[in-house]
Amino acid sequence: MEFQEMLGKRRAINFFDPNRDVDEATLRKAFEEGANAPSSFNLQPWKVIVLRDPVRKAALRKLASNQPKVTEAPVVLMILADRDGWKEGNETWKKRFETGFKPDQREWFAATTKTLYGGSPEASQAFATKNAGLFAMSFMYAASDLGLQTHPMDGFDHEGVRKEFNIPDNYWIPMLIAVGYAKPGLEILPKAWRQSYDDMVIKTY
Ligand SMILES: Cc1cc2nc3c(=O)[nH]c(=O)nc-3n(C[C@H](O)[C@H](O)[C@H](O)COP(=O)(O)O)c2cc1C
Repeated sequence: MEFQEMLGKRRAINFFDPNRDVDEATLRKAFEEGANAPSSFNLQPWKVIVLRDPVRKAALRKLASNQPKVTEAPVVLMILADRDGWKEGNETWKKRFETGFKPDQREWFAATTKTLYGGSPEASQAFATKNAGLFAMSFMYAASDLGLQTHPMDGFDHEGVRKEFNIPDNYWIPMLIAVGYAKPGLEILPKAWRQSYDDMVIKTY
C-alpha cells in the first residue's frame, strides 16, 4: 500500500470480526516491521504481552471500561514501556550494546544513558513512554500495510491491569492495541478533524 493511502486508511476500528483470526506469521511480520521504529540510542525499551486467550481477554475487558473490542478482536496487545531500559544490566540494553559498540565504549555508553534517562523517575518514564509509543505507531502502520485493522486504547485501569497480569514495576503500560479485521458491514465514518500546519506551529524562528 502506498504510504499516503495508508495514512488515510489506518483507523481506530471499534468493532472487529470475532470470527476472523490473525495468523501468527502476519502478526510476527507486523511486529518485526514495526520494530524499525526509531528509539533513543536504539535502546528499544518496549516489550509486548500478546493476548489471544478469550478468558484472559475477558479479564482485560473488565478492566478496560468494558470495551467490546477487547474481546471481539482476535488479538490484543499490551504495550509495555520499560522504565529500566536505559540501565546497564537490562537485557535489551546489553543486546543493543553488544551489537553496536566496542567493548571499550561500555563505560561511556552506561554513563550517557544513565545521565540522559536515569536522572529522575520522570526522565525514565518519559524515555520509556516516548519510545514505546513510537513502536506502537510503527506497529499500527505495519499492521495496516498487511491488511490488518488496529485500535489503540488507554481507557483501562492501569494498576488493575498490572495486578491482574502480574506486570513487573519497571513496565508502564502506555496502551493496549486491539488487532484483527473489521466487522463485516461496519460503517467507517470519515476521519475526524486534524490540526493543520498552522494549528500546530505555535512559533517559527
Ligand atoms: C493512546 C491512545 C489511546 C486511545 N484510547 C482509546 C480508548 O480507550 N477507547 C477508544 O474507543 N478509543 C481510543 N483511542 C482512539 C482514538 O479515539 C482515535 O485514534 C482518534 O479518535 C482518531 O481516530 P482514528 O485513529 O480513526 O484516526 C485511543 C487512541 C490513542 C492514540
